[in-house]
This record gives sequence, C-alpha cells and structure tokens, in this order.
Amino acid sequence: MSFEDLHKATAHQLSAAVDSICKDFEVDAAKLDELTAYFIEQMEKGLAPIQDKQTDKGLPMIPTFVTGSPNGTEQGVLLAADLGGTNFRVCSVTLNGDHTYSMEQMKSKIPDELLEDENVTSDDLFGYLARRTAVFLKKYHPDAIAPKAGGAAAESLKLGFTFSYPVDQTSLNSGSLIRWTKGFNIPDTVGKDVVQLYQDQLTEQGLDMVNVVALTNDTVGTFLSHCYTSNNTDSLTSGEISEPTIGCIFGTGTNGCYMEEISKITKLSDDAREKLLKEGKTHMVINTEWGSFDNELKHLPTTKYDIDIDQKYTPNPGFHLFEKRVSGMFLGEVLRNVLVDLHARGLIFAQYRTQAQLPHRLQTPFELDSEVLSHIEIDDSTGLRETELSLLQSLRLPTSPSERKEIQKLVRAISRRSAYLAAVPIAAITIKTGVLNKRYHGEVEIGCDGSVVEYYPGFRSMLRHALALSPLGSEGERKVHLRLAKDGSGVGAALCALVA
Ligand code: GLC
Repeated sequence: MSFEDLHKATAHQLSAAVDSICKDFEVDAAKLDELTAYFIEQMEKGLAPIQDKQTDKGLPMIPTFVTGSPNGTEQGVLLAADLGGTNFRVCSVTLNGDHTYSMEQMKSKIPDELLEDENVTSDDLFGYLARRTAVFLKKYHPDAIAPKAGGAAAESLKLGFTFSYPVDQTSLNSGSLIRWTKGFNIPDTVGKDVVQLYQDQLTEQGLDMVNVVALTNDTVGTFLSHCYTSNNTDSLTSGEISEPTIGCIFGTGTNGCYMEEISKITKLSDDAREKLLKEGKTHMVINTEWGSFDNELKHLPTTKYDIDIDQKYTPNPGFHLFEKRVSGMFLGEVLRNVLVDLHARGLIFAQYRTQAQLPHRLQTPFELDSEVLSHIEIDDSTGLRETELSLLQSLRLPTSPSERKEIQKLVRAISRRSAYLAAVPIAAITIKTGVLNKRYHGEVEIGCDGSVVEYYPGFRSMLRHALALSPLGSEGERKVHLRLAKDGSGVGAALCALVA
C-alpha cells in the first residue's frame, strides 16, 4: 500500500470510529421521555426525609428557607460575597427599588493552591475569602470599617454569602457542606457550617461589623435576581407568589431551583412546616442540586469516557454525574479523553508514536477549556483554519484538515448531548409544578446564568429543540422563555440579606 493509500485508509477508519462515538452521545426523544419521568420521580423522592445526606446518591432537593420572590421594589445597600467554581467576588449592591441596581465589585481568581493542594484546610480557604473581603471594604467602604471615635461600635454591614456547592441548609443563615463539587477538595470543610467558617475568619481580620446574615446558592441568586429585575407583582416579604419560575445555571457547574409548595416538602420537620404555614408562607425555593441527578446511572447515557473522567480525574467519583455530562467544566475534558483514546487506537495524531509524546497539555486533565470547543463548534473557515489555530494555541496540538473535520463532529456531539440533557430538568420541573396549566395561556420564565448558556454558540437553540422533543412538546416549548439573568450571585445574595 502506498503512503497515500495508507493515509486514506486511516482517515476512513478515524471517520468510522468518530461516527460510532458520536452515536453514543446521541439523546433521542425516547431517552428524553425516560429521563424526564425519572427526574420527576427523583424530585419527589428528594423532598422526603433523607437518612445520610453525605452518602445519599439521590437528588438532594435542598430547602433554602427563601419563601417568596422579590417584586423589584426592594431597596437598600448590601454586601454580597460569592464563591463560585473559579472566582471569588465581593460586591456592594445598591437595590434601587425600581427593578434596577448598581454594583461595585472585586473579583479574584481562586489561587490554584487552594484548589489543588491536598493539605489545604477550611481556615486557609475562608481566611483567603476574609482577606479579599477586607481588601474590598478598604477600597469601597473605608469609612464603614475605620475605627470609630471614642471606641464606639461600628455600624453593622449585612452580607449575603453565595456559596455554590451543596449545603444542608438549616436556616437562611446557616448550613453545612454536604460535599464539594467542581474543583474543590478540602475534606475538613465537609459537615461544617460555612457561614460560621467565613464569619470567624472575618472576625480574625478585624471585620466584626460584617454580619453574614444569609447563605444562598448561585442558582437561587439567579432566580431572585430574575424576579427582581423582571416585572413580577408579588413581594418577597408577603410570601406570596404567582408562578413558580425556575432559576438555573449552565456554567462551570450546572444546577437549578424552583418554588415548591411547603406542604410537599416533607423533609422539613412537622414543626418547621407548621410554623411556616402559620406565618402565611406557602412556598419555598428548593435548590435541586440537579448536578447530582441519576448518580446511580440508571438512565443517564454513559460512555466509557464519562466513566473514566468520573473515576480517574474528579475528586468526587460517583457524584454529580449529570453535571459531568453537561457543564462547562467537563465539555473540554470529554473531548480530551476521546482524542487521547483515538490516538491510543492509532487513529489520529500519527506523528506522536506514544501517549507520552503527545503535547503535554493534551495529556493534562481539564487543560482543554470549553471555550476552545465553542470556537470549533462554529468554525466554517476553509480547511477549518480557526480550529487549527485554536488547537495550536490552547494545546500546542498540530492537526490535519481531515483530523479537524472529525474533531468538529466530536465537539458538536458533545455539546449537543449537553444541551439535550439540560432540557430534562427544565421539562421535569415545568411538568411537576404544572406551571403551564396554572394561568390563562400559562407561560414560564426561566432565569439562566453561566458561561455555557450565555456564550456557547447554539446551546440555547439546541436546548429549545430538546424541550420540543421532550414530553413538553412543541406547544409547551413555545411557552418556556429562557432569559439571561445576570449577577444572580450578587443581586440574589443582597436580596436574601435584605430580608434576613
Ligand atoms: C455545582 C454546585 C451547585 C452550583 C452549581 C453551579 O453543581 O454543586 O451548588 O449551583 O455547581 O455553580
């Protein structure tokens, strides 16, 4: 066989192998039906008492103690702090009371050692958060933290803390970490009250005047911020709501929350439920932690790459398996695993004879960012030149035109599976709450945030397509409105702090 024939044969084999992998990433209407029904079942199960929250594999369905949605008239100046997947933000939020707000903020990238070093303790992490808070306050509120004449006590500053990890919330301002997700792995934080940890370190920094009065999750923040900025007529304090909408995040991680009837949240103690009902509260926001949907893998589509990533490269194997197929943190990692496998099978990047010779970045877990996939997804340049540059720049990986064609097919299969799966919880919550039937011409607004839903090309339209294929059907899909709700973790935390 000539060199050219050999090359053609391999290109053909690569294409066949890629087609077969892409097939494993397909999610069809029957799968959407099956997953939606199972999601509803898991929601119901998760609302009932759970024995051991740390080992339970079901949907966490966490009560948040947020019992109403804002109507946009809320006013005040509040602090907010937000620990997400990659950044820590401190903000000062001014709610103007007319659906608008202004915000000063300081964002810091979480130092790698806090994410990677095995010996990091809670004090290291929360000490870092408190120090960044001090830097922010010195810059934006120097008077508030300056010593007062005659030793008088400083005026208290209310802070809402957005902590975007599963927390067993016991009240609006306390909750213990169930487990880390996304990048962190600091074992001694598990089981501890994260508000207390943060408050103690603020005190260490001499910031006694800062009171962490509310604990929330980014998905809840997104929900509240969406309600505040849109024209909802109910009030956070009255506890009344008109329509349960959904707040959701498709970013580094993925999660969603919605309003549930308190009488159905049987995991709350009878006393707690009665007390809330007596106070006239009828609904509570539930943080579903849907990243943990189907941790038992009864229905989720699963490829060998998903299994490898979960088992070999994540600190929480066996948990958050839905997130590991959907969120931005994992899209690039799935592609990286597929490419390394195709290379091991002798089908791609033939210039590298062994795995050890592959560019270092291609061998490094989580080095391939989903942003690179977003460039490849829509590359229509001749010979996929954009893809070539993107892979060279990000991974130092040279590719041939035929390899790039196959890589683009893989990227589109991975993102499509992500967006199709993302439709499942939205369809399930919409059906379970019956929101589309509750009002004349019922419509539902969904506040979304996160880099994937905001920036990944085609993600929202693929999600909508899947909603139409799901049990909602195309009529239901038309009534579901996905709205970007920005700054949820800042504005939402401030709204929580306001009513605390
Ligand atoms: C992870 C966290 C969850 C958070 C989501 C989005 O799934 O467990 O709490 O809301 O990421 O940031």
